[in-house]
This record gives sequence, C-alpha cells and structure tokens, in this order.
Amino acid sequence: MKFLGSKTMETDRLILRAQTMTEQKRLWEILMIPEVNKYFLTVSPKIREKLKEWGKQKTFYEDDMKHANDDNVFRWSIFLKDTGECIGRISCHERREEDDNINDPNIRGVGWIIDPKFQGCGYGTEAAKAMIDFMFLECEIEQIITGAAICNPASWRIMEKLGFERQEATNMIQYTFLDELIEDYSYVMTKERYLSLNLPSRRK
Ligand SMILES: CC(C)(COP(=O)(O)OP(=O)(O)OC[C@H]1O[C@@H](n2cnc3c(N)ncnc32)[C@H](O)[C@@H]1OP(=O)(O)O)[C@@H](O)C(=O)NCCC(=O)NCCS
Repeated sequence: MKFLGSKTMETDRLILRAQTMTEQKRLWEILMIPEVNKYFLTVSPKIREKLKEWGKQKTFYEDDMKHANDDNVFRWSIFLKDTGECIGRISCHERREEDDNINDPNIRGVGWIIDPKFQGCGYGTEAAKAMIDFMFLECEIEQIITGAAICNPASWRIMEKLGFERQEATNMIQYTFLDELIEDYSYVMTKERYLSLNLPSRRK
C-alpha cells in the first residue's frame, strides 16, 4: 500500500482534514454522548472511566496530535463546508488494533462518528465514501474488515450502501461503555470488489 497519510479531501458538503488539537475537545464532547459511544469501540471497558475526564484526555490528545500528519495515520476530522463546524471524525486504522491475528497494514478497519445534531443527513455516508475511495484507489490497500452492532443500523447501512459484503457469522463484541456483549454483523470489502462496483466518486 501507499502511505499517503490523512490527505485533505473535499466532497459536496464536507471537508475532511488531518486532525488538529483545535477540534479535539469538541470531538471528545461528541464521543461522550451515550448514543454516540454506545456501539463505538474505543478502549477496554476497564479504563472507560478515564475517558470521561477531559483533563486526562487532553494530555492523550496532545500527544496523539503530534502524529496527526504522519504518513501512516489515516484519521480525519469532518467539517461542514458551509459553516466550518466540526461535526465528526472518521478513520481507517490497521485491523490489527482489533484483531491480534492480523499483522498486515493492507488490511484495515474503519470507524466513524457524527454529532447527533447532524445525523441522518447523509454526512456519514458522504465522508465514508470519500475515505474508502481514497484508501482503495490512492493508498491501494487490499481489504477492509469491519463490523457494526446489529442494533446500530445507522452504521451498517453505510457499509451496505457502499457494497461491503455481510458475512454469515456474527460476532459478540465487548463495547467500551456497555457491560453486556453485543451481537455484531461483520463486513468485508476487498480492493477487487470495490473496483468492480465502480461506484460514483463522492470526492471533488
Ligand atoms: C453511524 C453514523 C456515523 C452515521 O452517520 P449519519 O451521518 O447519520 O449517516 P447517514 O445520514 O449517511 O445515514 C446512514 C444510513 O443510516 C440510516 N440511519 C441514520 N440514522 C438512523 C437511525 N437512528 N436508525 C436507523 N437508521 C438510521 C440512514 O437512513 C442511512 O440509510 P439509508 O440511506 O438507507 O436511508 C452516526 O449514526 C453515528 O455517529 N453513530 C454513533 C457512532 C457509531 O455508532 N459509529 C459506528 C460504530 S461501528
């Protein structure tokens, strides 16, 4: 694959930019909304309480932002073109972060959050399409393996609309902020499949 980093991308209504410290507090506030973090995997539940204190998180994000422009980091803040407001975050991380058995940066996972005030307007789909285009067409990754809680259709609808293949087997997932295990659909997209779908580009 080509390590091109979090290149700025423009869609009809959005700008996706490498992250900076400026919007981290806003994004953390969005992530702390229960309806946003419920089916979103961040850290082990053992340390979930630490996520709730901005004082502790600020230091983590300050360190993290030192690498925001590294060529192996694929994580963007999502801004509305019209107002410049930051409404979410999207990433394409190495799948090994979720699965120890995978040791190949060409195989990746995805993550997305949109501020509930702006959900249901198609922004999640628009950002996801732009990122997935970039990852397959420019970075030339081989595969994305991902999942979403069955009870979280807003997320798996994006995967289905973009042509990801739902696998037969489901997985039980321990989400960060929930005590019980949640049943997830699992989805796969390969480079060959993505190219064969020939979806219209969302990027400008
Ligand atoms: C998942 C998420 C990023 C989707 O963002 P969004 O901007 O609302 O997405 P879109 O507007 O593009 O909608 C995507 C699809 O989900 C559907 N959808 C949106 N909200 C929904 C809801 N509450 N219930 C059911 N379907 C919903 C939309 O109708 C659309 O499908 P359609 O085109 O077939 O109608 C957003 O809901 C979110 O941040 N959720 C919390 C974090 C999360 O769960 N992340 C994913 C972890 S795997």
